[in-house]
Amino acid sequence: MAEAKDRPANPPRLDGMTALVTAAGQGIGRAIAERLQAEGAQVHVCDLNAATLTGTGFASVTQCDATDADAVAGWMAPFGRIDALVHAVGYVHQGTIEDCTPQDWRRSMSITLDSAYVVIRAALPRMKAHGGSVTTIASVASSTKGFPRRAAYGAAKAGVIGLTKACAADYLMDKIRFNAVCPGTVDSPSLRQRIADLADKLGGLEAAEKYFLDRQPAGRFGTPEEIAGICAFLASADGRFVTGQTINVDGGITI
Ligand SMILES: NC(=O)c1ccc[n+]([C@@H]2O[C@H](COP(=O)([O-])OP(=O)(O)OC[C@H]3O[C@@H](n4cnc5c(N)ncnc54)[C@H](O)[C@@H]3O)[C@@H](O)[C@H]2O)c1
Repeated sequence: MAEAKDRPANPPRLDGMTALVTAAGQGIGRAIAERLQAEGAQVHVCDLNAATLTGTGFASVTQCDATDADAVAGWMAPFGRIDALVHAVGYVHQGTIEDCTPQDWRRSMSITLDSAYVVIRAALPRMKAHGGSVTTIASVASSTKGFPRRAAYGAAKAGVIGLTKACAADYLMDKIRFNAVCPGTVDSPSLRQRIADLADKLGGLEAAEKYFLDRQPAGRFGTPEEIAGICAFLASADGRFVTGQTINVDGGITI
């Protein structure tokens, strides 16, 4: 048997595959798109913010609001076949249910949950003939675990998990696998923004960062690349018997 050191670090497990990734402009979505490309897939990405996609080198980049069914249909129109879809769009409202206005609630549901409905529904006709894999980026802040000040976010991500599992059951015989990856706290631009937003309340940036670090039993944030590796596994033949699962990638939060 080959020694671990003799094996390539990133075998091209996704050669010949067409993969689509949403929210690939930055953070977790970007790392996923880069990893799928590094493993051999033709990766087509979208993001709401066009500026984040310039100069990225993916097979195609499209400015697209994933909550807009017409825009998503336009994005997917050129793809006759999709082998792997990773849906990473999400929005964190920080607050209790009392802090959450009806507008905050609707925005949370729209960006996090409605987008999953729209994107998965548009991709399915391009997967049914041959099978494939759909991975949603949910969160451990969901039906998995309650966190303070995550009322709307937790509810929306629980919805993403429910949708993912229901689709896994509905499309099992079409050989389309659906899994939800549930990160813990991951160092991304939006986490840095949440830390900044909390700094005033907690008496500075350091205290705000500590607030988030204290949620992490491993003592550090996860990296976007650590989430991307699991997504590559799920998209590949290595994950072919895995469907309907929530996979916590959380540095020990759910031990
Ligand atoms: N960072 C974390 O700690 C963490 C933890 C658990 C789950 N997640 C989830 O992982 C995903 C990515 O998180 P991140 O922290 O890397 O995000 P981020 O906020 O840093 O990046 C999100 C990207 O999504 C894009 N986007 C926002 N709304 C969009 C829309 N309607 N259509 C298309 N693109 C849109 C943004 O322009 C941005 O480029 C999200 O679903 C998030 O909820 C993140």
